[in-house]
Amino acid sequence: MKVLLVNGSPRKNGCTFTALSEVEKALNAAGVETEMIHIGAKAMQGCIACNRCNGLGRCVFDDLVNETAPKFEAADGLVVGSPVYYASANGSLIAFLDRLFYSTPFDKTMKVGAAVVSCRRGGASASFDELNKYFTISGMPVVSSQYWNSVHGNTPEEVRQDLEGMQVMRTLGRNMAFLLGSIALGKAQIGLPEQEPRVATNFIR
Ligand SMILES: Cc1cc2nc3c(=O)[nH]c(=O)nc-3n(C[C@H](O)[C@H](O)[C@H](O)COP(=O)(O)O)c2cc1C
Repeated sequence: MKVLLVNGSPRKNGCTFTALSEVEKALNAAGVETEMIHIGAKAMQGCIACNRCNGLGRCVFDDLVNETAPKFEAADGLVVGSPVYYASANGSLIAFLDRLFYSTPFDKTMKVGAAVVSCRRGGASASFDELNKYFTISGMPVVSSQYWNSVHGNTPEEVRQDLEGMQVMRTLGRNMAFLLGSIALGKAQIGLPEQEPRVATNFIR
């Protein structure tokens, strides 16, 4: 089983990375393979609603989004980490996730998802809720922990001092490993739920 972790922070080894690394360690200890990718500090193109992905099966902008798509497809789980910017996930990560989720045609049903956020002081749960929306529109069960998945700090050292936050990350990793195993068993023994042909109404009457 494999989990892809996405560090949405421009600071490669910052607070979000510190939180994600704790989740990753717990996953690895439970025998789950992991890979972490970094959005980085370069400009990230947002979605321009051209809908070219509909025919292409990938985003028209050939960048980290298209590089990540096959890794996401191969993964059984996705952990998305973000620093909190103005009580929201950071802009580059949102640009990345909009395009990643919108442009990838593969079925995401029963891949598990988890969001992790890092803030200095406030806005953690709003950002956490925002990120979970990507999973809950995609048939992806959301893994929870013993608290909402956030750490507090401005530096990795401060985050490491957030003992409860770090425990939340470890619990999240262990819960994710358990859920991955449970879903694998469920797929083998019961199979995936039946899917109806998609209905899409735009609330125009
Ligand atoms: C543009 C900007 C906006 C921020 N807004 C908030 C905020 O609304 N609430 C908060 O607690 N921290 C805020 N912060 C602080 C970061 O969320 C915090 O330092 C975070 O842990 C950094 O994570 P990183 O090292 O992974 O980038 C902001 C930082 C920046 C650069």
